Amino acid sequence: MEERESGVMLWLMPADPSALPTLIDTPDGSRTAFNARFGEAYGSRFGAAGQARHVFVEGTDTHTHPTPRVLEIGFGVGVNFRATLTDAARRGVPLEYVAYEFDPATSEVLRAVAEGNEGTEHPAWTALLEGWPTLPTLTVEAEQVRLTVHFLDVLTADLPQAWASALYLDGFSPDRNPEVWTPEVAARLAGALAPGGILATYSAAGRVRRALAAAGLSVEKRAGPKGKREHLRAVREPLPPLSGQ
Ligand SMILES: C[S@@+](CC[C@H](N)C(=O)[O-])C[C@H]1O[C@@H](n2cnc3c(N)ncnc32)[C@H](O)[C@@H]1O
Repeated sequence: MEERESGVMLWLMPADPSALPTLIDTPDGSRTAFNARFGEAYGSRFGAAGQARHVFVEGTDTHTHPTPRVLEIGFGVGVNFRATLTDAARRGVPLEYVAYEFDPATSEVLRAVAEGNEGTEHPAWTALLEGWPTLPTLTVEAEQVRLTVHFLDVLTADLPQAWASALYLDGFSPDRNPEVWTPEVAARLAGALAPGGILATYSAAGRVRRALAAAGLSVEKRAGPKGKREHLRAVREPLPPLSGQ
């Protein structure tokens, strides 16, 4: 099995599948949780917040963008959102964040994973917990943040077109959640990126790289977060510069 945790998290599977997902403390002080349906953790056990920052926030250059527009597949327990929210708030820039999630964890799980960690003081996070989950779409606006979570299957949802400065492709691993890593989905995700927009994923699998390249993106390997050698980022070609007439 490729990616997320090399299968070693299976021992954490709760004996009673109806029990609350197992929380996992990670070495950087952040937390993730185990998802029994997919048999995998939501984030890296080597550092959930570290992965969110390195792979997704910095891997897409969101940390330097003056007006980031982030599209995320899938929202999970919100670790990537809190890392992005924290960065945007620290820099004083507005943030638009649109996510898709077809199997929402409970608000108790989101709260427990986040407790004492970054972003929890922000009113957008508080409002998210209050409204979670509002089907089919939850929208939160607070300070300079607008968050929209579509509780939909990304395979059939309408995606924004040429919109995202950053796309976080964060399904479960290609072995366990193969449907979100196909060339067809990659082509749709490429269409959701604005010109010059950057997609990042924790995966470095050859089939993911080939799917992103076949979608017309320029794919590069980048040093991975703690516990992982490499990850991928893929860039949509920018618009040509205006001729000076
Ligand atoms: C690795 S977790 C994402 C972790 C999340 N980004 C975070 O920061 O906590 C993968 C998520 O993708 C969701 N997912 C998988 N397939 C999906 C699909 N077809 N449509 C929408 N969401 C999907 C899963 O339910 C799960 O919550």
